[in-house]
Amino acid sequence: MMVPLKRRKVCGPVSDRGTTVKFPYVVIFLVERKMGASRRAFLSRLGRKNGFQVEDDFSDCVTHVISENNSADDVRTWLDLQQKGNVTVELLDICWYTESMEAGCPVEILAKHKLQEVQKVKEESVEFLIPSYACQRRTSLDNHNTNLTDALSHLAENAELNNEDGRAVAFRRAAAVLKALPVKVTSITQLRGLPCLGEHSQRVIKDVIENGVSSEVESTIHSERFKALKLLTGIFGVGAKTADRWFKEGIQNLTQLANSGHDLNRAQQAGLEHYYDLNQPVTKAEAEAIGDIVKKAVLDVLPGSEIILTGGFRRGKITGHDVDFLITHPDEGKEVGLVSKVVSWLTARGLLLYQKNTRNSYLESEDGPAQPPSNMDRFERCFSIFKLEKKEMHSKHLHPGTQSSDQKTSIEHLQYFQANDLSNSQMRPNRNWRAVRVDLVVSPISQFAFAVLGWTGSKLFERELRRWAGQVKSMSLSSHALYDNKQCKYLRATSEEEIFTHLGLEFIPPSERNA
Ligand code: UTP
Ligand code: MN
Repeated sequence: MMVPLKRRKVCGPVSDRGTTVKFPYVVIFLVERKMGASRRAFLSRLGRKNGFQVEDDFSDCVTHVISENNSADDVRTWLDLQQKGNVTVELLDICWYTESMEAGCPVEILAKHKLQEVQKVKEESVEFLIPSYACQRRTSLDNHNTNLTDALSHLAENAELNNEDGRAVAFRRAAAVLKALPVKVTSITQLRGLPCLGEHSQRVIKDVIENGVSSEVESTIHSERFKALKLLTGIFGVGAKTADRWFKEGIQNLTQLANSGHDLNRAQQAGLEHYYDLNQPVTKAEAEAIGDIVKKAVLDVLPGSEIILTGGFRRGKITGHDVDFLITHPDEGKEVGLVSKVVSWLTARGLLLYQKNTRNSYLESEDGPAQPPSNMDRFERCFSIFKLEKKEMHSKHLHPGTQSSDQKTSIEHLQYFQANDLSNSQMRPNRNWRAVRVDLVVSPISQFAFAVLGWTGSKLFERELRRWAGQVKSMSLSSHALYDNKQCKYLRATSEEEIFTHLGLEFIPPSERNA
């Protein structure tokens, strides 16, 4: 399920010091070595006065490391000692900082600003040349290193369940680099020179290559805590924090939860009720069947509307955890209120098992461009659970488990379900419909290209696009808009291609955004 990414602690619009942070993507650390403490303190104050986030201590949050009269080697050695895992910080000379102070915003990073790193790895010994931001690479669905990426993904998932976002992203980035490799890695030496592989990830990779498994991964995924948190967050409406609280109260499975007397909110009740269905992958055929119905609804309530299937299915995946639709209308403004009309249409026909609408709350003039590294957007939107009748499906697309003769109540069903393998198709309730998570998002046509780009994913690809925009181009990208911090203006676009061009990136088609 979608758990909104937690915002970085120190990256809010107002820093801990009460000064305003104008550029949330840029978190600066000034290296004291050779600069001296008093000059460092002076430069830090200057930066903060200008709206920059300058940290006193080095942490995972830092994106730009600035030094004066140091070699890249010295700074790299110092960084390695910090063991923070963020191996993708920019190492910059003080000239970038002073120019940025003069410009009043972070200036674009040019070659002259970077500390010249002596290539430790000789060119000929490097097997793969992989750029460091995932949005600079093509990542198709055919992954030659699932043994390694599965291991790293488990550790990322575990970190997410523990609310350790910095660690989670480090593992996700490492996995994404391996997904982009053209061949299966069989020796650790092939990884020389690859970006984003922190010391911890390398250890895990080495373990898997040499022993077939990583002992850390094995003990993590078989731990009671991981199993319980995964089961509990498998309930629609339950995030990592809630699951953790319940786990600490001794709740480890659905029966214990049902018997705990906890008041579940409406989403969680629906999530529990449809637990089985919502944890079954949604097929492309099911997504298309739902698409046909939603399209009918949309065109019925607002002729001329456009609707597209986004998310993983747009990237070519053949199954997904939900179905994501994006809707717009060529006349700006006509789309306002569309979600509730579509929801009424669907509700009147008994097609929704659950729905929660949010209005569009994005106002360019008020919200401004800076959307910190959160992927929450402000569109008019409906989170729903769709009731998909089997008769809507062509018979050849029917789920193999539909012939089950079990007739069980919800709670019996859950108990049975837990006692058995989650994938046991015999556990499928015998009925002529299934529940499917569906997201309906409505965008004004002026924001549509940004919305399509933002909703196509993958999540890591999106995150990397925003990081690239902020760190390299000094721009702020969201699912609503792109803002250029140097020119102090919004950059408009009517297609994804135009957005890539604004960002100075080669266009990557959806099927190659599977980072
Ligand atoms: P999903 O979570 O649906 O992922 O978000 P997915 O890639 O389709 O994967 P599966 O197959 O369903 O598991 C789709 C995209 O929508 C964005 C996410 O960042 C992702 O890129 N999204 C999701 C948002 O922008 N905002 C949200 O609130 C939720
Ligand atoms: Mn999806």
